[in-house]
Amino acid sequence: MRLQKIAAALLGLAIGTVAVGSAFAALSEDRAANMKHIRYAYGQLYQMLRNDSFDPATAQQGATAIAAGLVQLKDLFPAGSQTADDRASADIWNNRPGFEALRGTAYEAALSMAKAPDPASFTDAFQKLGQACRSCHDKFANLN
Ligand code: HEC
Repeated sequence: MRLQKIAAALLGLAIGTVAVGSAFAALSEDRAANMKHIRYAYGQLYQMLRNDSFDPATAQQGATAIAAGLVQLKDLFPAGSQTADDRASADIWNNRPGFEALRGTAYEAALSMAKAPDPASFTDAFQKLGQACRSCHDKFANLN
């Protein structure tokens, strides 16, 4: 099933090693911590779907955490911090509108998940979110 493939691929992401030596060194940890926070909430919601145990309050809590993380994501790649770690692709700086568009798509999907009234609409938004995660990683992150 497509949804499971997307989620499994995301949950299986490798954690890269970090080589840092710039004034932006702390950003590397902030970026990873923010994404792990997002992934944790995403994983919880994935389990909920897998267990067929949709609960609006749990959905709202997890999706709100993801949305907050996606807001924070905006400020983690300031000008000059290209070399803070080797997972952030140079394209984040070369194509900021593209990065922002995917961040926006993911954020909108997370908001839809937060207010989803039933499993069908939640699943729909969850799939959109998963696609946005994957698209952004394909274009803007070096995670392998
Ligand atoms: C708008 C772009 C974007 C979106 C959307 C996005 N990510 Fe990421 N993600 C990144 C970038 C860039 C990195 C590499 C960050 C760094 O430099 O450490 C990353 C890294 C990660 C990592 C690796 C963290 C580590 O240990 O270093 C995980 C896990 C992750 N993302 C999960 C997710 C999940 C799950 C979603 C969707 C719910 C998501 N991401 C959505 C851009 C995005």
